[in-house]
Amino acid sequence: MEKQKFYITTPIYYPSDKLHIGHTYCTVATDAVARYKRLKGLDVMFLTGTDEHGQKIEEKAKEAGVTPKEFVDRIVEGPKGVKDLWKLMNISNDRFIRTTDDYHVASVQKIFKKMYDKGDIYKGKYKGKYCTPCESFWTESQLVDGKCPDCGREVQDAEEEAYFFRLSKYADRIRNLLEDTDFLQPRSRVNEMVRNFIDPGLEDLCVSRTSFSWGVPVDFDPGHVVYVWVDALFNYTTALGFLNDTYHDYDKYWPADVHFVGKEIVRFHSIIWPAMLMSMEMPLPKHVFGHGWLLLDGGKMSKSKGNVVDPYILAEKFGVDALRFFLMRTFPFGSDGNFSNELLIQTINTDLANDLGNLVSRTTAMVGKYFGGKLPEGCRTWAAPESFDTELITMASGLRARYEEAMETFAPHKALEEVFKVIQRANKYIDETAPWVLAKDMEQNGKRLAHVMYNLLEATRICGILLSPFMPESCEKLFAQIGADTQAQTWDSAAQWGALSDSAAVTKGENLFPRIDMDKALDELEALEAQARAEAKAAAGPVVEVEPYAEEYVDFDTFCKSDFRAVKVKACEAVKKSAKLLRFTLDDGSGTDRQILSGIHKWYEPETLVGKTLVAILNLPPRKMMGLESNGMLISAVHTEDGEEVLHLLMVDDSIPAGAKMC
Ligand code: MSP
Repeated sequence: MEKQKFYITTPIYYPSDKLHIGHTYCTVATDAVARYKRLKGLDVMFLTGTDEHGQKIEEKAKEAGVTPKEFVDRIVEGPKGVKDLWKLMNISNDRFIRTTDDYHVASVQKIFKKMYDKGDIYKGKYKGKYCTPCESFWTESQLVDGKCPDCGREVQDAEEEAYFFRLSKYADRIRNLLEDTDFLQPRSRVNEMVRNFIDPGLEDLCVSRTSFSWGVPVDFDPGHVVYVWVDALFNYTTALGFLNDTYHDYDKYWPADVHFVGKEIVRFHSIIWPAMLMSMEMPLPKHVFGHGWLLLDGGKMSKSKGNVVDPYILAEKFGVDALRFFLMRTFPFGSDGNFSNELLIQTINTDLANDLGNLVSRTTAMVGKYFGGKLPEGCRTWAAPESFDTELITMASGLRARYEEAMETFAPHKALEEVFKVIQRANKYIDETAPWVLAKDMEQNGKRLAHVMYNLLEATRICGILLSPFMPESCEKLFAQIGADTQAQTWDSAAQWGALSDSAAVTKGENLFPRIDMDKALDELEALEAQARAEAKAAAGPVVEVEPYAEEYVDFDTFCKSDFRAVKVKACEAVKKSAKLLRFTLDDGSGTDRQILSGIHKWYEPETLVGKTLVAILNLPPRKMMGLESNGMLISAVHTEDGEEVLHLLMVDDSIPAGAKMC
C-alpha cells in the first residue's frame, strides 16, 4: 500500500543576523512533528532553507565589504552558520533550499512571467512607504503612528516604476478561505488577519523593485528585481521541482500539509501566498500554522540583554535534547512565551532530571539490584493487580491516543504534558508499591516485585517512544538501558502494553539528565557567552575606521602652495614635561637644520626614528609648543581600531634625498 504523504515546511531564514533560540524554536517544532509523522509511518518531506535576497542583505554585505553572495555563503555554509546550527540541533530536514540556487531563480522568473501574461501582474507606479529591515511595503493607512506596523521602526518614502500583483482581485476568495475553512490556525490568527488586512480592503501589492539589484531579475524588464517575498514564498514549490528539473517531487508532495510560520509572517502566508497560488491556478497548502514568539522580559529577543540566547552555547551547556525538549514542553505553540535561562534550567531539573531521569535510573537500578538485570520470564502477567497497577497500565496504554490527538492539532506542548502525566504516575507507583519493602522477603514477594518492575519498564518504554520525536538521541539511550530494541519501538508498539520482552537485559547506564546547579550554571553561561563574544571579535578582527572624506573641494592652486618635502631625522628626543611631544632635528636639504615638534610619543620611541626619511609640510607658519618653536608638520596616516587612534609616520625610501619636493 502506498504510504500517506506529509509535506511540512519551516520559514526560510534570512541569513543576515546570527540565529538565536527564537529562530530555533520553529525549526525544532517542525522537526518534532516531522519525526512524529515518520514514526507513524508516513512518507514525510520536511523542507527548510534560507531566504537570501533583498535590500537588507545587500546593505549588510556592503557594510562587511564583501559581495552579497559571499556574505550569504558565509552565514549559510560557514562555521556555526545556518546549516551547522540545524545539524547541531539534530534537525532531520529532507531538503534545504537556498533562494540563490540557480534552479529556484529560474523557476521564480517563469512564475513571475506567468502571472504577468495572465494579467495578474501589471506595470504601474509605486508610491508609499518601505520598511527596509522587514522588506515590507506599507500604505499610509497601514502605518502605526507613522511607523512600520510589524517592527515599529521608521519607514522611508518610496516612489518608482514597479510591477503590481492584483491582490485585490482575490480579496473575496481569501476572505472565504480564512473565515470558512481551517486553512489558518490557530483560529485567533484568522480574526487578526481579517480585521487588520481584509476588512480595510486589500490593495494591489508592489512586486518588483528597481532601487537595488540583489534579487531575482525580472527577465523581461532589465533593472527590475522580483519582490523578495514573491521569490521567498515560492520556495515551497520550487524545492519540489515546480518549473525546474532539479527536483521531481512536486506532484508527489504538493500541496503542503502545513507551513509552520512565526506570527509576524502570517500575513504573507495566509493572504499573499494563497492569492498568488490562485493566480497560478495551483492547489493551496492545507494549513498555515502561526506560532507565537519567544520573548525576553516581554520584549524582542534580539534586543534584550541578560539572558544567553545563543543556541550553540545553550546546547553545549545543557545538551541538544534538553534544549529541544524545553522549547516544546514549556511554550504553548500558538502563543507567545517568556524565555529565560532560569526557566530552562528549572524545566530540565523538574521534568528531565527529577521525573524522567529518576524513573529510569531508579527502575534500572532496582532491576539490577533485585534481579541481576534480568526479570524472570513470564513476570508480565504474574500476581493479581492492585488498583494502582490497573491505573498505571490504563494510563500508559491510552497515552498514544491522547498524544496523537494533541500532535495532530499541532499542540506539541499538550502531547508532552500527557507523556509527563504518565511519567509522574509511574514515579508515584514506585512509592505505592515500595519495591524496597517487597525485596526484604523475596521468597514471599519475589513474583510481585518482578511484576512491579516490569510495569515500570513498560510504562517507561511507551513514554520513550512518544518522546523520541522530541529527544531522539536520549530516547535511544533510554531504550538501551531498559533493554528495549530500538528498531522494535514503533508507533504500533506504543499502544501495545506488554510489547517489551519480560526477560530483556536491563542495565543502569549513565544518568540521562543530570541535575543542574542553577547558580553555578548561570555563572558558567555568562562566562561562555563572554568567551564566545571575545572569539567572535577576534575572528572578525578589530573595527577599523578612517575619518570621513572631505566633502569640499580645495582648488588646485591652493593645494600646489603646500610645500611637502622629504626630510631626514638627524636627532629626536622627548620634550621635557610633555607626555606627547617629540622634538625632531631634521635635514630638509636647505643646509640649515629644521626643528619640528610632533605629538606622537604615544606611538614612537624617539631613538627608533633617527636616520629615517619622513615627509613634512614646511610652509606652515611657525608655532610655539612648550616654549619651543615648530617649523612645519610631519605627515602621518591616522585611523582608529576599536575606537583607539592609531598613527603611522609617513616614511619614504631612504634613497630619496633630503629636500626632494613631493608633488
Ligand atoms: N525570510 C522570512 C521567511 C520567509 S518564508 C517564505 C523570515 N525570516 S526570519 O529569519 O526573519 O525569521 C524566520 C522565522 O523565525 C520566522 O517564522 C520568525 O517568526 C521566527 N522567529 C524569529 N524570532 C523569533 C522568536 N523570538 N520566537 C519565535 N520565533 C521567532 O521571516
